[in-house]
Amino acid sequence: MQIHDTIAGLRAARGKAGPDKRMALVPTMGNLHDGHIALMTQARAHADQVMATIFVNRLQFRPGEDFETYPRTFAADCQRLEAAGVDHLFAPLEAEMYPQPQTYQIEPPPGQAGILDGEFRPGHFRGVATVVMKLFQIAQPDAALFGKKDYQQLMVIRNMAQEFNLPIEIIGGETVRAADGLALSSRNGYLSAAERAQAPNLYRILIKVAESVRAGFRDWAGLEHSAVLELQASGWIPDYVALRKKVDLQLPSAHDSGLVVLAAARLGSTRLIDNLEV
Ligand code: PAF
Repeated sequence: MQIHDTIAGLRAARGKAGPDKRMALVPTMGNLHDGHIALMTQARAHADQVMATIFVNRLQFRPGEDFETYPRTFAADCQRLEAAGVDHLFAPLEAEMYPQPQTYQIEPPPGQAGILDGEFRPGHFRGVATVVMKLFQIAQPDAALFGKKDYQQLMVIRNMAQEFNLPIEIIGGETVRAADGLALSSRNGYLSAAERAQAPNLYRILIKVAESVRAGFRDWAGLEHSAVLELQASGWIPDYVALRKKVDLQLPSAHDSGLVVLAAARLGSTRLIDNLEV
């Protein structure tokens, strides 16, 4: 695996690979787990060359969030990427990505980025869209892969790519779960042993909501409210449990199908998100 920390180095390597070589990009913030590695494997099926990126993007963290403490495990990450057969890793320092303040930024529409996670993390998706647009400009991939665990992020990036006519196929990867159902996330490492034992309940509650929808319940607000109460009863502080349309994450009518149930909730000081397509 070739490791690049400069944009110039990356572009030179990309040039050498030749224009006929299809390249798939997998942007990450590092601290890689099996979910990331599944994306690398999926990327291989879509391209001749796989490029991972590791960059903890300050722009998408709000003051008081975990930018400073976000786990940085570069050596272990490199080993995992190498073993997964990744061809290139782009791992720039902040000064390479943001040599001066990033005054031009991508502002996704509030209807997509101001709801759900965007309501609780204002500006988060602006930071995500901006860094992803920069990574796209730098790496010029043919395809890019993002995990469905960050369902809203995937939607925002898909729409951004479409509206800016980017010649990049945006591909979603299925969420990878631990044996007890907990969605893999770099933030799971923050959980205490007791919180880790409680954490899979988030997914179990999503399953319950999904089963109720499949059984014909159409009182979305009632289902969401029961799920919130159940989380609270187990010691969670939920931000939201929301049934939405998969296609645009807008509120479904009673007749809509093609739904997804999404949740974000805090367990101690750790905020977890998860979702389940119905
Ligand atoms: O999902 C992530 O890890 C990040 O939001 C991303 C897409 C790498 C942008 O920083």
